[in-house]
Formats: sequence, C-alpha cells, structure tokens
Amino acid sequence: MAIDTGSVDRGRVRGAGVVVTGAGAGIGRALARGLAAAGARVVVNDLDAGAAAAVADEVGGYPVPGDAASEEGVHALITAAREHLGEIDIYCSNAGIAAGAGPDTPDPVWQQAWEVNVLAHVRASRELLPAWLERGRGCLVVTASAAGLLTMLGSATYSVTKHAAESYAEWLAATYGHRGLVVHCICPQGVRTNMLAQSGRAGQVVLQDAAIEPEQVADALLAGLASGEFLILPHPEVRGYYQLRASDTDKWLRGMNRMQQRIEEVERTLQTEAGQTGAGQTGAGQTGAGQTGAGQTGAGQTGARQ
Ligand SMILES: NC(=O)c1ccc[n+]([C@@H]2O[C@H](COP(=O)([O-])OP(=O)(O)OC[C@H]3O[C@@H](n4cnc5c(N)ncnc54)[C@H](O)[C@@H]3O)[C@@H](O)[C@H]2O)c1
Repeated sequence: MAIDTGSVDRGRVRGAGVVVTGAGAGIGRALARGLAAAGARVVVNDLDAGAAAAVADEVGGYPVPGDAASEEGVHALITAAREHLGEIDIYCSNAGIAAGAGPDTPDPVWQQAWEVNVLAHVRASRELLPAWLERGRGCLVVTASAAGLLTMLGSATYSVTKHAAESYAEWLAATYGHRGLVVHCICPQGVRTNMLAQSGRAGQVVLQDAAIEPEQVADALLAGLASGEFLILPHPEVRGYYQLRASDTDKWLRGMNRMQQRIEEVERTLQTEAGQTGAGQTGAGQTGAGQTGAGQTGAGQTGARQ
C-alpha cells in the first residue's frame, strides 16, 4: 500500500515503497534499517551485490544491486523497484564517494565524483518526476553532506560536488514544491562508516569528538520526514555554522584556514612520530582523503569558535 497523504507524506513511512541507494553499508544501510523498522517496503541497492542482498535479507527488503549513478544503472534500478513496489514513494539517493583532493586531482576523478555525487540525483529525478508530478506526490531524499553547506578541507572534489548536490535538491524543491514533490537534503558532518574509517589518521584525530553513528542519521531522516523540513541536520550545530558562513563569510574563511593549519600540524606530528620527515608532503593542495573528513568537521568546529 502506498502512502496516501497527498503532497506531503509527513511521517507516513508505514507501507511506503522506498529505494535506498548505497544501502549495503554505512549511512545507506542505517537508512534502510530505520525505514524498514518504521514499516516501509525497502528496495536495497548497492554496487556490492552481496552487501545489498545481506541488508535486504536483514530488513525484509528487496535487493537490486547495481550502479545507482550511471544513466543505465539508475534506469535499471528504478524499473526493477517499480516492478517490485508498484510505485516508489520515497527515493533515498544516498550513494556517494569521497574521491579526489585538491587542484591536482585528475579530471577523470573529478568526473567520477560528479557522476556519483551529483548526476546520480539528476538521473534519478529525471526517471521519477514524470510519475510523481502526475500523481501529485513523491519524496526525494538526497544525502549530501555538511561539506555541501560548508566545505571539506583537503577535498575540493567532495566540497564542490556536495555543494552541487545540495543546490540541485534546493532547485527541485523550489521548482516542484507546489506540485507535490517533497525534497529532503541530509547534511551530516562525520559519521562512523567505512568512508570515515578510510579518511586517514589526521582526519580521524580531528573528527573523533563530533562523529556520530549512522543510526543517528536515520533517526534524523525519520524526524525530517515527519516535520517536512528540507535540511536534515544530524549534527544540529551545522545550522549555526551555515548561518555564520552566510553572515560573515570572511570570518568563517579565516576560521577554516586556521583549521587547515591545525590539520597540517597534526600531520607533521604524526609523520615525526612515524619517523618520517614528510617534507613537502603536507601542503593543502596535496592533502588526501584523510584530511577531507577532518575538514568537514573542522568547518563546523571552527565556525562555532569564531
Ligand atoms: N561518513 C561520513 O562521514 C559522511 C558524512 C557526510 C555525508 N556522507 C555521505 O553519505 C553517503 C553515504 O556515505 P557512507 O559514509 O555510508 O559511505 P560508505 O562508503 O561507508 O558506504 C557507501 C556505500 O555506497 C555504495 N556505493 C558507492 N557508489 C555506488 C554507486 N554508484 N551505486 C550504488 N552503490 C554505491 C558502496 O558500495 C557502499 O556500500 C555518501 O553520499 C557520503 O558522501 C558521509
């Protein structure tokens, strides 16, 4: 049974047909678990077929493995999900990657980040919107990041593509809100997942205090589905940092730069401890995924102290 509350399906997850991309692990898995526990019928997508099957088995869902970013992959996923669910009520476009770093990042890596972190949402909405607009309701949930509202030191690719994801979600809400489309944009800082675990020692050092569990992101989404609020902020303090960025951009940028310097200091200390000199390896342009997570949290922490 599809949810039937008209244009805004607030809190009406029970019985809803839901798709979660990248649901074989991390935040996506927690979203699948949380939505299934709330009574949704969940299609579990992931590139990793075994992980998708395991999560589907666990939550009583339906696995549709595959690429949730490419045009063909999105089409195949949505076709299979519609066949299984009847209609899709809520589509959680969650899969994302933390590829790339600074200006030296090769174009193919930029393109990969653009495909998964941005075009996946565009392609999903292209498939979903006609039916949603015709029936006058539908709900798209985009997992962006606090980096999409602030920045992520160490990864221009992640920052830029997550800003684009957030911007696209805003555009959809502004354009189709009166026609029954509800859009939510999830913008967490650090969340304890594989992505965070792979973010390197320096990132983890800076992140550890503020990182939350994936289940807290799922709880925040369920609350957001109930309230109808566009921005889902599992770290509530992000709202204040976002306000600071808008109201005093230069102060915020100075704070971010101080955080960058702190990250470089931590890196130097770690390298010294490891017996490496590390000379020439710690420039901002060369920081890797390790510093990206740190920057993401740092955005907020720095802003808060300004
Ligand atoms: N972990 C964090 O700190 C954090 C913070 C803010 C936002 N996010 C965002 O949350 C989302 C989920 O991140 P996570 O931390 O759970 O990551 P993760 O790497 O732990 O899990 C991501 C899952 O998505 C799958 N995946 C990747 N590309 C895919 C594709 N093209 N199609 C289908 N599946 C794909 C992977 O196989 C993996 O199972 C991402 O969009 C990420 O950018 C993460």
